[in-house]
Amino acid sequence: MIKRLLLATTNKGKIREIKEIFEASGIEILEPQREIEVKEDGNSFLENAYKKARAYYEAYKMPTLAEDSGLVIEALGGYPGVFSSRFYSLEMGGVEKVENSKDQANIKKVLRLMEGIEDRRAYFITFAVVCFGEYGIWAEGRCEGIILYEPMGKGGFGYDPIFQPLGYEKSMAQLTPQEKNLISHRGKAIRRIIDFLKGGV
Ligand code: IMP
Repeated sequence: MIKRLLLATTNKGKIREIKEIFEASGIEILEPQREIEVKEDGNSFLENAYKKARAYYEAYKMPTLAEDSGLVIEALGGYPGVFSSRFYSLEMGGVEKVENSKDQANIKKVLRLMEGIEDRRAYFITFAVVCFGEYGIWAEGRCEGIILYEPMGKGGFGYDPIFQPLGYEKSMAQLTPQEKNLISHRGKAIRRIIDFLKGGV
């Protein structure tokens, strides 16, 4: 069985979550020493995840795990989608200024576009890819929920304060890291990868 995987990201929020998901797996997660510039200009999460995995694999020549995630809002026709990390900068009735952080600017844009909209259905989605060079594997995970009317909670990252998972009365940012990983898009996709790597699929 594979013993080590390089993680193709320098995003601290993701690293924290992914390391915890792998904790009991017997697979060691290595962080890259430097960020590799990857243009995330693919038309799908899977394409972007593959591009990241491939780029880090080429630089480090070791099995590499990458993931691409985002928020899909039904009433916004699927936006932010693949634009989740830079949604604030899209020209959709105006560009949101980054004052404190990109996450806050993104949240501001979602809340503005969702003003007066009753259909709040949304889901987070992750595509995770492991690149071994000439071959690879991928898995998908989703977490269904609704968009809140205002931010709640300080945990997690990204859109967590305005996302309430189905069956919960709290935002994703009000869950403990363990609770989030149990139900999150990322948790589901990565546990599928772990099952596969351990020969359970
Ligand atoms: P990427 O996968 O690095 O392209 O980032 C996608 C963007 O989606 C992030 O910058 C966040 O804004 C958002 N996102 C991805 N996963 C999560 C999550 O678990 N919670 C909240 N926001 C997320």
